[in-house]
Amino acid sequence: MALSIPVRLRRLRSTPSVRAMFSETQVSLRQLVQPYFVVPGKGVKQETRPGYGLWQVSPDVLREEIGLLNKAGVGGVMLFGVPEHKRDDGKGLDVQMEPLRQAIIECKSAAPELPLFADVCLCAFTTHGHCGLVKGNTILNDESVVALTDMAILLAKWGVDFVSPSDMMDGRIGAMRKGLDEAGLQHTSILSYAIKMASAFYGPFREAAHSAPGFGDRKSYQMPAGNRREARRELLLDVAEGADAVMVKPAMTNLDLIRDSREATDLPIFAYQVSGEYAMLRASGDAGLMDFDRALEESLIAIRRAGADVIVSYAARPWALR
Ligand code: PBG
Repeated sequence: MALSIPVRLRRLRSTPSVRAMFSETQVSLRQLVQPYFVVPGKGVKQETRPGYGLWQVSPDVLREEIGLLNKAGVGGVMLFGVPEHKRDDGKGLDVQMEPLRQAIIECKSAAPELPLFADVCLCAFTTHGHCGLVKGNTILNDESVVALTDMAILLAKWGVDFVSPSDMMDGRIGAMRKGLDEAGLQHTSILSYAIKMASAFYGPFREAAHSAPGFGDRKSYQMPAGNRREARRELLLDVAEGADAVMVKPAMTNLDLIRDSREATDLPIFAYQVSGEYAMLRASGDAGLMDFDRALEESLIAIRRAGADVIVSYAARPWALR
């Protein structure tokens, strides 16, 4: 006897072209931002662990990289500074950031219109590796915000389009907006790391940025992974303080919070597929447990489906160059 099945969803999955027509979520290279770690010197081009996507480059090499990625149609590039010397008083930032200044000039002359982001945080610039200034064992808030604002103003003066504070101090977005405006930098946007968890998934990044905390951990400023209501408070506060776009990070462990953010604000939402997420997929691929390319694509689609407009990911470069 023939079954009577009223709804057959499989009809719309029958061929590749039918599936493509009804595809609800896409990822394009234009929506991906590639991070780079800017180191001093010349001719430096080094992936901290081959295949894991964390590139340390000197400004001259960055220029070539930007040329290639821009031509391929990448969405943007995000710079993290790895200074030659560390210091703990939040002063002399302009000296510590000299390679970043050169890198920004190279980027803007190689690809003037490519959106250029730069991280604002002290963890790679201090001997203790915390994201702000420290007194004893305390991570200071308001003093840190002053130093971070100085950092943002320098980056904006040198020509980045977006300053991206990832430090998680309270009040930094408002202070930074005010500082930028008073310095005549009204055109520089702020991408706030609004919801950033204290996460084990930053491991590979800290190796590349030389930014692991020397004592304690980041739990007094980064968020606890379980707190959904607190995440909403962080988000709305940064929106109120004047952020132009907001970030959720890590991405894959916070897909619900990306969705919450999408519904709580009309600002563009960024998600950061962090170093440990990328490493996890890569290592599984290398171990022969999963198909890396397919797993990566699936993860990016899921982040977009959750509501992210733009994804910061180490996948941008390999996609652009494939
Ligand atoms: C700096 C910063 C970190 C990341 C982005 N900005 C590391 C941290 O907070 O320890 C992580 C990004 C990644 O893992 O790819 N505060």
